[in-house]
Amino acid sequence: MAKPILQTKPSTRSLWAVATAAFLIFCVLWTFNNPVWPSFSTILSEPNTKNCLQGGLPLNTSQEPTDKTFYDDPKTYYTIDKPMINWDEKRTEWLKHHPTFTSTTKNRILVVTGSQPSPCKYPLGDHLLLRFFKNKVDYCRIHGYDIFYNNAFLDPKMRSFWAKIPILKAAMLAHPEAEWLFWVDSDAMFTDMEFKVPLERYKDHNLVVHGWPNLIYEKKSWVAVNAGVFLIRNCQWSMDFLDVWGNMGPKSPDYPKWGRILRSTLKDKMFPESDDQSALIYLLLKEKKKWGDMIYVENEYSLHGYWLEIVKKFDYIANKYLGIEKRVPRLRRRRAEAVSESYAAEREGYVAEGGDRRGGWRRPFVTHFTGCQPCSGDHNPAYEGDSCWVGMERALNFADNQVLRNYGFVHLDPGNGSHVRPLPFDYPGDESHEFV
Ligand SMILES: *[C@@H]1O[C@H](CO)[C@@H](O)[C@H](O)[C@H]1NC(C)=O
Ligand SMILES: *[C@@H]1O[C@H](CO)[C@@H](O)[C@H](O)[C@H]1NC(C)=O
Repeated sequence: MAKPILQTKPSTRSLWAVATAAFLIFCVLWTFNNPVWPSFSTILSEPNTKNCLQGGLPLNTSQEPTDKTFYDDPKTYYTIDKPMINWDEKRTEWLKHHPTFTSTTKNRILVVTGSQPSPCKYPLGDHLLLRFFKNKVDYCRIHGYDIFYNNAFLDPKMRSFWAKIPILKAAMLAHPEAEWLFWVDSDAMFTDMEFKVPLERYKDHNLVVHGWPNLIYEKKSWVAVNAGVFLIRNCQWSMDFLDVWGNMGPKSPDYPKWGRILRSTLKDKMFPESDDQSALIYLLLKEKKKWGDMIYVENEYSLHGYWLEIVKKFDYIANKYLGIEKRVPRLRRRRAEAVSESYAAEREGYVAEGGDRRGGWRRPFVTHFTGCQPCSGDHNPAYEGDSCWVGMERALNFADNQVLRNYGFVHLDPGNGSHVRPLPFDYPGDESHEFV
């Protein structure tokens, strides 16, 4: 299975994309300055775990005291060539000086994603990446999460799937107010815009990945977890973990050695280079006490959903949800987007039984186009013809229909995002509304 690729100059099309992205970010930032979502997290009173204080102060982004913090220390390095030490204390100290960030009603998440610094080779690439990003911005706006889209290689040697490691360290430093960083590959998208990550479940863990314990510990497979979508807590443990993990990558003199070790440990690993996913599985296997115990291997919902199994079910899933809305008038009521989380909570009672595993009909939380590279246009030869791009189009429209709903529109053809129509009042209550 090929990995998502981060590659590398600006054309008119990508400038347009950047301008649009900048506007979207502006909207997101605006949203966060708005006290409608006073949802900010607190921190770690001890390393590796955390306590959440509850509070109700609104965020004040103009409050910046003169007290010295880690930002004022010339020995604080954003780069991954120097380790971060005492991060929990430094972060707690910063939060102490910024009380409006520490008072919170829920854990604060920063979604982190990105793509290559240069235009895509594949003609549809930049358009697809823009839509993948739009999807993440929509998800973040709906749930009050922040988002950072990076498109620079922060370490010259850490490219492609290794690029996220330096990005995550820098993002932790830039966002001491965020408890969790939620890395989402550029080729992954949210396909359940209502679902929220069950953070309570992860209160004793620092890293959450999708995977299967038997594939890790018994089969020792390199696809036992997926390293393209994960949550990582903003704490010293994670700084240390990123160091160890990153040291198995191309910036390390041991990179060739790690390639050999990983290939001999994980028998189904096809290619000789050390990759981030195999490295993560290796650490789970070999250093369970040191790292594995703080890593939550999730498979009760699609934190990473494999697109090939999902895209053929979209129409079926959409019809199941329409069926619920036909039966339950409140769920089809028009609403402001800002209160959509309350409808999500109500819908939960009806969709819980669906299950998003194989055979289920619940919307998969994340659909990840592993093996398809929208930017280069390359894909795993096993995926015939244009199945990657057709699948992406369907997934993007499936997700966007959940968003457009609150704006009064729907994509007419789930296979083509170009055409929308206005939703009739009380849709889909009236039997005469036979579309979608
Ligand atoms: C935010 O902080 C600044 C600087 O301390 C202060 O002048 C301002 O009144 C605060 N705003 C709110 C809404 O508390
Ligand atoms: C969608 O429809 C538009 C306008 O009719 C057309 O130009 C485009 O090629 C279609 N896209 C796909 C993916 O079929």
